[in-house]
Amino acid sequence: MNTVLEIRDLCKTYIVNKRQNNVLRNVSFSVNDGEMTGVMGPSGSGKSTLLYTVSGMDKMTAGDVFFNGKNLSGMHENELAKMRLEDMGFIFQQMYMMKNLSVLDNIILPAVKSSKKKESNKAIEQRGRELMKRLGIAEIAENDINEVSGGQLQRACICRSIINDPKIIFRCG
Ligand SMILES: Nc1ncnc2c1ncn2[C@@H]1O[C@H](COP(=O)(O)OP(=O)(O)O)[C@@H](O)[C@H]1O
Ligand SMILES: [Mg+2]
Repeated sequence: MNTVLEIRDLCKTYIVNKRQNNVLRNVSFSVNDGEMTGVMGPSGSGKSTLLYTVSGMDKMTAGDVFFNGKNLSGMHENELAKMRLEDMGFIFQQMYMMKNLSVLDNIILPAVKSSKKKESNKAIEQRGRELMKRLGIAEIAENDINEVSGGQLQRACICRSIINDPKIIFRCG
């Protein structure tokens, strides 16, 4: 089975007012293709920190993270951003939708911005609409972000997270 994510001896230390907070201490695990992995722990135990470091949003203090066999440590900011856009999906509790775009335009934004883009914007839009239909929210495609229910918006976030057919989906919160 293919290993999508491999984490070896990951450490993350925050320093606040000269005090060290060793939030992640030698965390190691891997996630294989088709596998679902849950991370549990009390508030403040480091779940969000783990997500930010393994997706390259924040720098790790020590250790190695391999995504698709590629070591994140050697990657530049732009490369990490491209990796998140094209090969990772995110479903945040806070949702982070663009308020000036419709629900559909939010959903297809990652595909429109992808450098791997092979389809026309029209074809991407069609795919976005099909995804929305599958998730039961076809009727809100043209709505503003503030014109939908919380549950509908959650489902829109799911659509957005899979529009680029990512190798891994992070769902947090
Ligand atoms: N940007 C930051 N700077 C300094 N300390 C932080 C930062 N983010 C989180 N922490 C600290 O790291 C610890 C883990 O936080 P976090 O990963 O958000 O926990 P969880 O998501 O499990 O609730 C907490 O003690 C928190 O105060
Ligand atoms: Mg958290």
